[in-house]
Amino acid sequence: FTAGGGGGENTIVPGTASGFPPFEMKEGDEVVGFDIDLLEAVVAETDYELADWEDLNSFDSLIPSLRNGNIDAIAAAMTITDQRDENIDFSDPYYSANQSILVREDGDFQPSELSDLQGHQVGSQSGTTGESVIQGMVDEGNFQESNYNAYDTYVLAVTDLENGNIDAVVLDEPVAASFASERSVSVSFVYETGEQYGFGVRTDDDELQTALNDGLAAVRESGTYQDLTSEWFGE
Ligand code: ARG
Repeated sequence: FTAGGGGGENTIVPGTASGFPPFEMKEGDEVVGFDIDLLEAVVAETDYELADWEDLNSFDSLIPSLRNGNIDAIAAAMTITDQRDENIDFSDPYYSANQSILVREDGDFQPSELSDLQGHQVGSQSGTTGESVIQGMVDEGNFQESNYNAYDTYVLAVTDLENGNIDAVVLDEPVAASFASERSVSVSFVYETGEQYGFGVRTDDDELQTALNDGLAAVRESGTYQDLTSEWFGE
């Protein structure tokens, strides 16, 4: 174990995909947010150390980057899904979320259920569970694939929504609330998905997975977890 984070064998590279407030967002050159603070607090409880954060350009590249060793852990508000679980391992859950449907504030389009989205232009971030909700409607024949708009980040999707290029965005509820408080958009309805976020690690990294789970338990126990949720969500 090398003290000082100088790239010793217990130094791990954390990866995220910013543009997902308040979990991860850019502040100047730095990436800040709940996930950043939480993973740092969790790792501080272990024998590991964190190297500088890798902020990937797309959410889609997180799992490939983890698998090929460019990063060692994912902290990106990533929902634990069966499909992802086939390729990586997850820590214990650290946050729960549903999906929200964002529309223009004071706009005419105020959907109240998924079927209301039919015939409208809808966006989400590529590779997310928001996209899966839309894909599910397409698969059931309730939504036209050509009305779906995929974005590299939700920031771009929300900008297109504000500009009137699309009519709705499907995204995680806490992030929708964050955009609604800062941009000219509002939550039209919540679609319950019962998602849980976990930190991602490689499937052969049992030791890190166990350490992160122990670290998570420790920060819940110490009150740090609660402090961070108050700080970032006002809960
Ligand atoms: N929770 C959703 C998912 O896992 C969205 C995550 C998007 N995260 C991000 N950092 N952009 O698919």
